[in-house]
Amino acid sequence: MDQVSNIDKQKLPKHIAIIMDGNGRWAKEHGKPRVFGHQNGVKSVREVTEASAELGIQYLTLYAFSTENWSRPAFEVNALMGLLVETIRKEIKTLNDNDIRLQAIGDIDQLPKKSRKALLEGIENTKENKRMTLVLALNYSSRWEIKEAIKKIISDHDTGKLGKADLSDEVIHSYLSTKDIPDPELLIRTSGEHRISNFLLWQIAYSELYFTDIYWPEFRKAHLYEAIINYQNRERRFGKISEQLPL
Ligand code: IPE
Ligand code: IPE
Ligand code: MG
Repeated sequence: MDQVSNIDKQKLPKHIAIIMDGNGRWAKEHGKPRVFGHQNGVKSVREVTEASAELGIQYLTLYAFSTENWSRPAFEVNALMGLLVETIRKEIKTLNDNDIRLQAIGDIDQLPKKSRKALLEGIENTKENKRMTLVLALNYSSRWEIKEAIKKIISDHDTGKLGKADLSDEVIHSYLSTKDIPDPELLIRTSGEHRISNFLLWQIAYSELYFTDIYWPEFRKAHLYEAIINYQNRERRFGKISEQLPL
């Protein structure tokens, strides 16, 4: 199943975003509590991060916790927050060994103190790394991000820093939490769900979407290769017709 040699290194996406879904259903199928699924999802995070860095992907964004996920039972939310602290602490060394920089998007200030602290430490301790940026979407939702951007745009307009005529796609991008990150060329969602769940709505305007039935805890390097090969076989037209595209 290892298809890495079929990947065209000249046509790699710069940025891959993943909606990691299906932990709970995977656990249920194994007769275990949902948290067991989250714990096992960490291995998939490790695999995908490693595979992406090895291939030369520059940005990998993982949707780890949405603003809507606070509505889950408190026990599950607490377990997820605990897992976050534990995983970041454990993985900092590996991130540094592999020259991977950690970043986060989302309403980080609203995370429990311990989780925020671990995250900020992870970001600080990996900030000089250059090979790849791993972006965790944490307490993230796209509507939250767009709302925040609009607030800042209005206040910059009020103070005269930004005129109505200045409002281009690029300027809007510069107000988002992904301002230093290119839009993802490829968005993957696991677990057979075909929806976006409030993730990167502005940024995925022209992303290729890839859905797989595999549950996140079962997602391995080979599945990532499969998604990339699928992406590389698509024709990205951006509104043009085939004949207008470069050969
Ligand atoms: C994804 O798996 C992890 C998070 C959303 C935090 P789920 O927990 O959503 O698993 P399912 O979708 O219920 O199977
Ligand atoms: C989306 O998964 C959020 C994350 C992967 C963190 P959910 O499982 O929360 O999405 P819905 O509720 O099924 O749309
Ligand atoms: Mg889910």
